[in-house]
Amino acid sequence: MIQTVAKVLEQTIEGELTTVEITALLEKPKHQHLGDLAFPCFTLAKKMKQAPQQIAQSIAEKIEHPFIQDVQVVGGYINFFVNQSAVTQQVLISIRDSGDNYAQAENNGQRVVIDFSSPNIAKPFSMGHLRSTVIGNALANIAQKNGYEVVRINHLGDWGTQFGKLIVAYLLWGSKEAIEEAPIQELLKLYVKFHDEAEQDEALNDKARAAFKALEDQDAEATALWEWFKNVSLVEFRGIYEQLSIEFDSLEGEAFYNDKMQTVVEELHAKQLLTVSDGANVVELDDEMPPCLITKQDGATLYATRDLAAAFYRQKHYRPEKIFYVVGNEQTLHFKQFFKVIDKMGYSWAKRLQHVPFGMILKDGKKMSTRKGRVILLKDVLDEAVQTAKQNIKDKNPTLSNIEEVAQQVGVGAVIFNDLKNFRMNDIEFSLEQMMNFEGETGPYVQYTYARISSLLEKAQFTSFNLEVTDLEEQAWPAILCLQDYPKAVKEAYEQADPSIIAKYVLQLARAFNKYYGHTKILVEDSAKESRLLFCYCVATVLEDGLKLLGLKAPRDM
Ligand code: ARG
Repeated sequence: MIQTVAKVLEQTIEGELTTVEITALLEKPKHQHLGDLAFPCFTLAKKMKQAPQQIAQSIAEKIEHPFIQDVQVVGGYINFFVNQSAVTQQVLISIRDSGDNYAQAENNGQRVVIDFSSPNIAKPFSMGHLRSTVIGNALANIAQKNGYEVVRINHLGDWGTQFGKLIVAYLLWGSKEAIEEAPIQELLKLYVKFHDEAEQDEALNDKARAAFKALEDQDAEATALWEWFKNVSLVEFRGIYEQLSIEFDSLEGEAFYNDKMQTVVEELHAKQLLTVSDGANVVELDDEMPPCLITKQDGATLYATRDLAAAFYRQKHYRPEKIFYVVGNEQTLHFKQFFKVIDKMGYSWAKRLQHVPFGMILKDGKKMSTRKGRVILLKDVLDEAVQTAKQNIKDKNPTLSNIEEVAQQVGVGAVIFNDLKNFRMNDIEFSLEQMMNFEGETGPYVQYTYARISSLLEKAQFTSFNLEVTDLEEQAWPAILCLQDYPKAVKEAYEQADPSIIAKYVLQLARAFNKYYGHTKILVEDSAKESRLLFCYCVATVLEDGLKLLGLKAPRDM
């Protein structure tokens, strides 16, 4: 509603202030009898060198809009009284007519690339990768809702000197059966053993370098082993993606750029951007940043070299409006550095590259990825959440027929929602008990609200879509305003690359609806019953859509 009033004001005062400035000035009056919104005219008075009261009066006389029932001038303020029934009509009819296309922007012909998840082959899928996966997926959904075509890329960590070490370790101590039994666990063991042994035996490191060189030169044995490590790791990762219902358009990881780095290095050279430092080739950046390492003394390339090659490849292939990199904030310097390198090469699209950083997951205030040297497996975390959900559902709704399926949706949903409900830069506390609470600020709370409405609509056999909207109870008003705000939330979530805006939005809508639900007998037979049901339907539609953007399912019963 605030946007509507701001727009009307902006048109009336003919550009003296922008809608953004007006929005910031608009306030909620202290007492309800003073209206729904108030606009103080003092800033404007200074600008126009007139008395506030006088300006307020002359603006008020010109205001006319179907959503505004009345305007009154009090002191230097213009007080607006909203026409609730006109707004209600407009919002409900618009949602009724567009369904889950409500707030869907038209295809804008632009493309965005989202680089997210990107776990490392032969290493456990960490909680950090979970965050990247969940935030990246939501951002991708939100971008689509904003009219972009989205390319989802999993930039797998499948290249680098560690694969030389792994090959050597496997040939020395590995067992095929053990790896097939528990791939990542076993490969990690080999990797750790390699480091232990290499402390005693320096020659191992030379062997590893040679093995990686062989891999880079496409030696058959090295390549076969590397492919095998990759495939068995992917089997495990796929299980996680399946459980989270997340798909990618491309799994081209670092290895894919093996043959695409040379041209970048040559171009850097030709542009005289490379300098030698301790035998390595680097690009010097501004004083405030350390140089970006491009090739090591032995010619080996690095993480940054592959990211440079990837950026060029994506720019050429997809012509994206933006490339988002959803990666933890500990890599901020890395992204700043290689964005700067592209900028120094003279490419203006460097400014279209955006790092989307995030904080850590904590358990009891401590970083969660390792505990007493033991790795916490994401799969175990998800399974535990699902088990807890199952128990909760059994207590609440023992006759539910598809308990298994719903427990998956609720358990996984709880983990996802817990991750997304706070601004991504905040560290998040991992508490199973809290994230499962049906009454807290949780995924299950929103899902439960949705399920409650669904069963109400089913009970009422609500199908009548062409009905007139009559006035609703006063208690519906906050939820109506919230429904009207959905397109704004969708837009802001994209602009700020912040899914928490949607998470907070669905929480607010669910809360507003539950207040109404507590006050109102929805199924009472009177002339407003159909309108109440339509209102419920609209709330459910938007809740379901918001959950979907975040990557959660909305079960109809739970
Ligand atoms: N595999 C990397 C890691 O786990 C993340 C890759 C992120 N994407 C990128 N283009 N650098 O740290």
